[in-house]
Amino acid sequence: MTTFKLLATAAMGLESIVANEVKELGYETQTENGKVFFEGNERDIAKTNLWLRTADRVKIIAGEFNAYTFDELFERTKEIEWEKFLPVDAEFPVQGKSVKSTLHSVPNCQSIVKKAIVERLKKAYHRNSFLDETGPRFKIEVSILKDKVQLSIDTSGAGLHKRGYRLDQGEAPLKETLAAALVKLSRWTPDRPFVDPFCGSGTIAIEAAMIGQNLAPGYNRDFDSEEWPWIGQKIWDEVREEAEELANYDQPLNILGTDIDHRMLTIAEENAREAGFADLIQFEQRQVKDFTTTEENGVVVGNPPYGERLGEIEIIEEMIADMGRVFAKHPTWSIYMLSSMGRFETLYGQPATKKRKLFNGFIRTDLFQFWGERSKNK
Ligand SMILES: C[S@@+](CC[C@H](N)C(=O)[O-])C[C@H]1O[C@@H](n2cnc3c(N)ncnc32)[C@H](O)[C@@H]1O
Repeated sequence: MTTFKLLATAAMGLESIVANEVKELGYETQTENGKVFFEGNERDIAKTNLWLRTADRVKIIAGEFNAYTFDELFERTKEIEWEKFLPVDAEFPVQGKSVKSTLHSVPNCQSIVKKAIVERLKKAYHRNSFLDETGPRFKIEVSILKDKVQLSIDTSGAGLHKRGYRLDQGEAPLKETLAAALVKLSRWTPDRPFVDPFCGSGTIAIEAAMIGQNLAPGYNRDFDSEEWPWIGQKIWDEVREEAEELANYDQPLNILGTDIDHRMLTIAEENAREAGFADLIQFEQRQVKDFTTTEENGVVVGNPPYGERLGEIEIIEEMIADMGRVFAKHPTWSIYMLSSMGRFETLYGQPATKKRKLFNGFIRTDLFQFWGERSKNK
C-alpha cells in the first residue's frame, strides 16, 4: 500500500462539515483555502468515496510546486512520476483553473500539463507513437492559486452527490451533499421523529434515512478509481462488504416528507423506493400550515421555496408566518429551515437560536435554527 496526500473537496460553506466527516472516518485533517486534506492509502480512497456524505469529490494530490512560466509548469509537471498512477492506456482529460496567478490562461495551462504528462508516459512506457487513451479514466486538474500549482487526480468520477437513487426531480432540488449536511447540522438521531414539510423530490428525507440506518451513500454507484489497476476490485469489494456489515437495516425510522404538490410526492416516493426505503419513509400531501403531531422531540428540516418571481413572494411570506405559528405549538421540536429570505425570522415571529451561512448552489442562504426545549421525559 502507498500513502497519498488526499483531498476531499467541499462546496462553499460546507468545508468544516466535510472536515468533521473525514475526521469521523478516522483521519487527521488539515484545511487550507477551503480544501480538506488528509492522508490515506488505496483502501482509504475506496472507503472515503463510499462513505463521505457531504464532500463533492476525493482527489489525489499528484504534485505541488510554484510556477511563473509555462516552461516551469511543463518541466515540473514532467518530473512527477505519472506512470505510478496512469497505465499506458489511461484516458486523462485535463481541466484547469487559475486564480490570482501569473499563468492565468487556463487553456494554455491545461494543454501544457497534458503535453508534459504525455511526454513523461511515452518515455516511461517506451512509446514513440501517440497514446491511445482507451483505458480507465483519470481526470486531472491543474489548479493554480497565487502561482502555487496543484496537480490532482479525481478518484470519484461523477460528483459524490450522485448516489444513484434520484430518478426524477422537481424544479429546485437540493443537492444530496447539502441535504446530508443539513441533516448532520440538525444533530438528529434516528430515535427521534423527522419531518421535511417541503420534501419536493424527497432528498432530505432520503439522506436522513441513510444516516439513520448508517448506510454508505456511495454503496450503489461506481467510481472512476474502481477501474484503476493499482487499486483493484478486491479492495472495493472489501470496503463494500464492510459497509454492508455496518449497515443497520433494523434501525426503525420515523421519517415523514410532506409537500403541497402531489406530483412531487410521486417523484419522492419513486426516489425513496430506488434508495431502498419504500416502506420506511412516509410521504403525504399536506401544506406546512396543516402540520400537526402528538410526538415530542422531533426534528424538522426543510428548504421552503425562496420566491424568486414576483407575486410568489407575498404567498411565501404568509406561509413562513403560518409556519412560525404552527411550529410554536410544538416547543420540544427543533426546526431547521434553509432560506435566502433576509426577513425570515421576522416573518416566522421568533429570532433564530442560531443561523449558519450556507450556499445552495450560488444562492446565499442561511440555515435558520430554532432549537426545541427538551421535554422532561427525555
Ligand atoms: C425548494 S423546493 C424543495 C426541494 C426539495 N428539498 C428537494 O430536494 O427536492 C420547495 C417545495 O416546497 C413545496 N411547497 C411550496 N409551498 C408549500 C406549502 N405551503 N406547504 C408545503 N409545501 C410547499 C413546493 O411544492 C416544493 O416542492
